[in-house]
Amino acid sequence: MTTTVTVAGASGLVGSNIIREALERGYKVNGTMRDAQDTEKTKWLMALPGAAERLKLFSADARDSNSFGPALEGADAIFIACFPPIYFASDGTPARELDRERGYQEIVAPVRDGCLNVLEATKRAGVKHVMLCSSTSSTNPPEGVAVKTETNAISDAEFQMAEKKFTSAEKIVMETAARDFCVRHNMRLAIFLPTMMLGQVILPQHIREHQGFLARPILEGKANHERVPKGSMSLAHVGDVAKLFLNAYETGAAGRFFAVYDSLPWRELYSELAKHIPASVLPAPFEGDPEEPTRFDFTRRDSLGVEMRDSETTIAEVSEWLKSRPFG
Ligand SMILES: NC(=O)c1ccc[n+]([C@@H]2O[C@H](COP(=O)([O-])OP(=O)(O)OC[C@H]3O[C@@H](n4cnc5c(N)ncnc54)[C@H](OP(=O)(O)O)[C@@H]3O)[C@@H](O)[C@H]2O)c1
Repeated sequence: MTTTVTVAGASGLVGSNIIREALERGYKVNGTMRDAQDTEKTKWLMALPGAAERLKLFSADARDSNSFGPALEGADAIFIACFPPIYFASDGTPARELDRERGYQEIVAPVRDGCLNVLEATKRAGVKHVMLCSSTSSTNPPEGVAVKTETNAISDAEFQMAEKKFTSAEKIVMETAARDFCVRHNMRLAIFLPTMMLGQVILPQHIREHQGFLARPILEGKANHERVPKGSMSLAHVGDVAKLFLNAYETGAAGRFFAVYDSLPWRELYSELAKHIPASVLPAPFEGDPEEPTRFDFTRRDSLGVEMRDSETTIAEVSEWLKSRPFG
């Protein structure tokens, strides 16, 4: 019998790529989004190879645990990618301008509570395997570490909130709540930690929403930055990230896993992009010495057996794809 998996966040950048990978591997997939009647989103998912036969889409909202019931029926695992970062309070105030109380109530708590709602539904359905998408914003301990591993790079939520980084704190709070829940209910939990993700996206909306660094220079003739930033960035091809999720599920892996490549200075990322666009589109050069890039130990990531691309390959691949104007 074909195994069914549930993907929460089917219409998202990560969720849609998990669906593509799961369909390619022969699974039946139940995908969720808030409005499964929204054909501007569903038509792209239903056009994936295998979707007509093996993909079903359901409406579900993380604020309502019961809404996830139908999508979890008969599933063996859930892939949760339905908690994009919250940058604004309900009245539009930027998260970084909130005080501790509002920052916690409006930015941090909804993600924790939403995740627990999805996990409650998962438990009720008897589903024992949970693959959760988090972010490297949960990997910044106050004292810093020379080389990050998944076990030494753990953010301190109180410290982040004291610095008004509520949008980062939401991730470590979500991870901690999910871990405690899964330990209590004997469910396997694997957590994935991506940063910027690029790729040949499935929904055209995701070009505008997620690929600014490449898409703006290539499609709009204007760089995303005025000046090359002095810092560094870790990125990954979202197809590689999706493979990490599926491999972790299939191999029984648990715990946290980086889902990035080596971090590179923005200067290097832009010089890779410069191979694919006219120089006039590049941001003004950064003057001075770039900050030291974050260093990672990828032992756990690589234990999942995914042949990861690198930043250079991803930038080249996705730039050429964008230049072909894939959605017209
Ligand atoms: N994109 C990146 O570069 C990036 C970087 C680092 C980490 N991440 C992490 O990756 C995960 C997924 O992000 P993404 O970039 O794929 O996000 P996304 O493209 O914004 O997709 C979010 C998905 O969640 C669904 N969703 C939103 N609110 C929901 C709610 N209240 N209840 C149920 N479903 C809801 C959305 O569906 P509808 O809107 O159609 O309802 C959509 O399917 C997040 O944990 C994010 O922090 C992403």
